[in-house]
Amino acid sequence: MKHLLSTLDLSRADAIRILDIAEEMAAVGTREVKKLPALRGRTVVNLFFEDSTRTRISFEAAAKRLSADVINFSAKGSSVSKGESLKDTAQTLQAIGADAVVIRHGASGAPARLAATDWIDAPVVNAGDGTHEHPTQALLDAFTLRNHWARVNGTSTLGTDLTGMKVAIVGDILHSRVARSNLWLLRTLGAEVTMVAPPTLLPHGSNVWPCAISYDLDATLAGGIDAVMMLRVQGERMHASFFPNTREYSRLWGFDDARLAALDAQGQTETIIMHPGPMNRGLEISSAAADSPRSTVLEQVSNGVAVRMAVLYLLLSGDQLRPSGL
Ligand code: CP
Repeated sequence: MKHLLSTLDLSRADAIRILDIAEEMAAVGTREVKKLPALRGRTVVNLFFEDSTRTRISFEAAAKRLSADVINFSAKGSSVSKGESLKDTAQTLQAIGADAVVIRHGASGAPARLAATDWIDAPVVNAGDGTHEHPTQALLDAFTLRNHWARVNGTSTLGTDLTGMKVAIVGDILHSRVARSNLWLLRTLGAEVTMVAPPTLLPHGSNVWPCAISYDLDATLAGGIDAVMMLRVQGERMHASFFPNTREYSRLWGFDDARLAALDAQGQTETIIMHPGPMNRGLEISSAAADSPRSTVLEQVSNGVAVRMAVLYLLLSGDQLRPSGL
């Protein structure tokens, strides 16, 4: 594979290979191993048409830890605001000598469009496109889940998947590229997934997805869940009519203090609470839950650097370093 556009394109072996390499990459950036020379002389362009904190800075950190040069391009303040097209922007990057393009775009399918053209001859990494996919978020979530699963089971992580793990993905599924990428990858890795959402925030067609669907968060939690992945309510992508009243949303689908206490009362000591960020504290997650020992929010951010290093390394290094199919 030349590009990373969707987790649907990853086989189980591809995904495990990325997670295993990310585990090695996690040691880089410490005082002992500050950088690797793997991508010296290569240029990674972060092409961001939508806002980002975590994804953009972690791709930048990842590229720098591999000794690549990094160009950060944000549509705001660029000639895109004068109407320049994706084609002309991409050809400009080609002329500058980009060796890889990490693209976030508000339009679902924009990274695939870029990858399918001859506008630029470089691997394209989807850093989040519209409501479609966010594959590196799913990979960093899988990395976090695999570490947790290995700790709980007293096993090693390398070479393993998530068979038997129960994961609930909760909230605004309709607008979530994180939910889609996670569903495909978690299923590939053997986890059991339940999507929990208000009926108005589930997309048409989700009834045939390879997961259980629930409208009842408390019943799902009481059934025994290893990880609860809370999603951001994406107010910017909604019309008022989509949105359950915020108080109702937080009472029925938010991870609030009462649900945190219920996990303790039910003896579910090993259940972790995840969130891709940015969080709407007090809406889909309470501060007590976000800051609790169960929360992996910041661990996910750290893991994002290692996973993105693995992805850049695999896409930009020589063939002999690529896993089969990637
Ligand atoms: N999780 C995530 O994609 O966060 P950013 O929008 O800050 O990149």
